[in-house]
Amino acid sequence: MSKKIVLLNGSPRKNGNTEILADVFIQGAEASGNTVTKFNVGRMKVTGCTDCKYCFTHLGECAKKDDMQEIYKALYDADLLVLASPVYWHGMTAQLKSVIDRMNVSTAKPMPITDAALLAVYGDTDTEAVEATISHYKAIIKYMGWRDCGIVTQSEVMEKGDISGLSSLAAAKDLGNGIQ
Ligand SMILES: Cc1cc2nc3c(=O)[nH]c(=O)nc-3n(C[C@H](O)[C@H](O)[C@H](O)COP(=O)(O)O)c2cc1C
Repeated sequence: MSKKIVLLNGSPRKNGNTEILADVFIQGAEASGNTVTKFNVGRMKVTGCTDCKYCFTHLGECAKKDDMQEIYKALYDADLLVLASPVYWHGMTAQLKSVIDRMNVSTAKPMPITDAALLAVYGDTDTEAVEATISHYKAIIKYMGWRDCGIVTQSEVMEKGDISGLSSLAAAKDLGNGIQ
């Protein structure tokens, strides 16, 4: 059965390595009949959760009326969430983390998401550089009860487009293609 996928790209760089990796994932996923909605959250206006608890008394509605409102609509219609990010200081970007924090409304109104995947790119040659990001992703999906569909990472990409021709692109396409 095809899935409704929401992909959150945390990179602020247009056509950066994360977006290139995300786009081949999307090609693969759409080729096998899934629908994908991509948000370039790195360039959207979403500020962090302020713990105002408005959502707890308003059926999961967030008090902040910024670009997150558009993302909420898609998240409340999604089966699978893809977190895509460059590694910044050993973690996901602050922009993506703000979106994740704002998903706290799901405590008041659960989202239909059941599955997740991670795409992460980074400049370092040492795979240790991505370990904290993977651990964070694993902790999130465990907490949410989501099934892991796969993780694709790419080391040694620093400048825009460095990822072109590297093996992670085929891995991301296969990951997308395998989602049914
Ligand atoms: C603020 C900042 C922090 C970064 N921190 C790390 C890091 O901790 N480890 C690493 O390997 N690369 C780090 N990088 C490099 C990026 O992960 C790398 O340039 C990546 O390819 C950017 O992806 P993008 O093209 O999708 O934006 C950092 C880059 C920036 C701008």
